[in-house]
Amino acid sequence: MLILGIETSCDDTSLAVVEDGSRVLALSTASQVMIHNRTGGVVPEIAAREHINSILPVLEHVLKEAAVSFDQIDQIAVTRGPGLVSSLLIGDLVASTLAMVSGKKIIPVHHIQGHIYGNWLERDHRDFHFPIMVLTVSGAHNELILMKDHLTFIPLGRTKDDAAGEAFDKVSRILGLGYPGGPAIAKMAEKGDPKAFKLPRAKMSGRYDFSFSGLKSEVLRIVEKELSASKELSEQFICDLSASFQECVIDVLSKKLFQAARDYQVSEVHIAGGVSANSSYRARIEQQGRELGFTTRSPVKTVYSTDNGAMIAACGYFLYRKNPGYYQHWQNVLPDPNLKFS
Ligand code: KG4
Ligand code: ZN
Repeated sequence: MLILGIETSCDDTSLAVVEDGSRVLALSTASQVMIHNRTGGVVPEIAAREHINSILPVLEHVLKEAAVSFDQIDQIAVTRGPGLVSSLLIGDLVASTLAMVSGKKIIPVHHIQGHIYGNWLERDHRDFHFPIMVLTVSGAHNELILMKDHLTFIPLGRTKDDAAGEAFDKVSRILGLGYPGGPAIAKMAEKGDPKAFKLPRAKMSGRYDFSFSGLKSEVLRIVEKELSASKELSEQFICDLSASFQECVIDVLSKKLFQAARDYQVSEVHIAGGVSANSSYRARIEQQGRELGFTTRSPVKTVYSTDNGAMIAACGYFLYRKNPGYYQHWQNVLPDPNLKFS
């Protein structure tokens, strides 16, 4: 089954053609990073306008790359929420229009469930074993989920304030490294000492909950202290603080993930979402998983970690397979910026 996946929940216009929820025939993404870098974050009206400019050229490109005509597409999967309403609207409108003129049906997809299915891309699905513990972490969400079966999710914990990706973005701004923060901090961290600064790990009453705002405030305090003493941040200071911050986030994420995996006696552990593009985080999960005896997975390519249309197509495939009557008539696909998880 060929599914066209459409993802426009934030600042990436990303479309993909995916076969049977695994084989990515083509993935095409128009990134707005250069535009939002100027403002240090995403401005919703600008993001929506850029989606309008990009989405039809990206559609044309992805079909060409996949070497399929639109007639050969079986279903259209589109992100319905959560996300920025004006951004979601563009993807949903294009999906609805395509469905209206072609008679194809639409599979609305939850963005975070899409991230979870990013791990199923380009893998043999017979190798997966439920239950699976999944930690999906992005700019806007930070969820620890027990996946008992396909599309059977039990949320165990979440962030009480900032998501880890948001903390990367805010710390990057504090250090003057620009947007998005994750890749910028990761690059500086390569040249830094992760033990240079002792940073706080928040103590939470909820065993599987997270909190990163105290960590961000501590980074701000350290930077302000340094600036009052030396007017400028040296490159080594920025690298050391980046490395210490990144280490702190990875430490918290990996400890909670493996703790939950042990508590629920799962054998398979996944990381997903934009932060799972971080190579040190991936390496830590892999190494600890090996030591502790878990099968670990992160998306096969880092482009399947950050927002992309392929994960939406993969999730759409499983939604359709589980319930072929699930799909929606084009008139019913309205964006929901606060779409509930299940
Ligand atoms: O999933 P995603 O692309 O968009 C949302 O759904 O929010 O995640 C974006 C987030 C941003 O906060 C970005 O800084 C973070 O993922 N991110 C990273 C890396 N690449 C992206 N964080 C750490 N290391 C990275 N290499
Ligand atoms: Zn996302």
